[in-house]
Amino acid sequence: MLQSVSATETALPPSDLRAPASPKAPAPGVQTPQSGPARATSARATTPAVVQKPLPEPTWRSADNRARLYKGDSLEILERVPAESVDVIFADPPYFLSNGGSTCRAGKRTSVDKGAWDKSNGVEENHAFNHRWLSACQRALKPNGTMWVSGTGHVIYSVGYAMQQLGFKMLNEIVWEKPNPPPNLSCRYFTHATETLLWAAKSRKSRHVFNYDRMREMNDGKQMKTVWRLTAPGQKEKLLGRHPTQKPLALLERLLLASCPDNAQVLDPFNGSGTTGVAAVTLGHSYMGIDLEQEYIDLTQARLLDAVPSLRERPALQVVR
Ligand SMILES: C[S@@+](CC[C@H](N)C(=O)[O-])C[C@H]1O[C@@H](n2cnc3c(N)ncnc32)[C@H](O)[C@@H]1O
Repeated sequence: MLQSVSATETALPPSDLRAPASPKAPAPGVQTPQSGPARATSARATTPAVVQKPLPEPTWRSADNRARLYKGDSLEILERVPAESVDVIFADPPYFLSNGGSTCRAGKRTSVDKGAWDKSNGVEENHAFNHRWLSACQRALKPNGTMWVSGTGHVIYSVGYAMQQLGFKMLNEIVWEKPNPPPNLSCRYFTHATETLLWAAKSRKSRHVFNYDRMREMNDGKQMKTVWRLTAPGQKEKLLGRHPTQKPLALLERLLLASCPDNAQVLDPFNGSGTTGVAAVTLGHSYMGIDLEQEYIDLTQARLLDAVPSLRERPALQVVR
């Protein structure tokens, strides 16, 4: 029988995502000579302090600060996210798939070229990259935080192996089944009709959030299974612009509904068109997204403001007496 485990922590307000600079209270994960044991050896005493750089100014933020987008390399920006500050991470990393193959789009054969970010650097380097960003995400997660990673066979085995190497607690493996997949033009393979989502908690000790009742309610009173049948995003979700690997909003809504505490801090290190952000903010959470491409930051901003117009408004000032 599955159990509902509720979080004991609440989300940090966005301003708390900056690393505190006070020498008296170093941010979690920051080591200073003062924070080390008193019996430091002379070699240790001369070791320079490892100070975590604060987060840079976001490329865009909503007026109420609930949504923040960063243009840049997630490996660099994740290092600057304060340790243990995020409740839920969703990541849809590069598939390492754009290497001259072909696929079927709108009934026509086209080359698979999703962008420079999707080129493979070989199995070893791809795995080293996955290990690095997963480790950075693990540091950013709260002790009871969880993360979701979606992918196809090109990347998901490496992701799962890296998660095991890093000591994540594997919770579930979800199969997202697409009822309307594009046909396989070569007729030499089965039609690819699924993607995998791995759901894992930060560590073996984590007491993760699972909103069991909500999931059962969404599944007509029966326990939600690990096969989710959802259509790929249609034109309605692409009215403000296109992204080659856009995920359906319904997928992100379901996984956030399943795993977020109230007022969660949600992060996506491979933001793309911002589907995670739209789902997170619509459900009342705060969001931080990172992407290399300005084009996708702009698209996300447009989608967020379209979905949640109140993001334009500053919260009313409160009079403190
Ligand atoms: C698979 S797509 C994500 C799509 C997204 N889930 C959506 O619904 O639109 C991956 C995204 O990660 C970005 N990206 C790739 N490598 C990156 C890196 N090192 N740092 C930040 N963003 C990166 C790409 O520009 C691309 O938009």
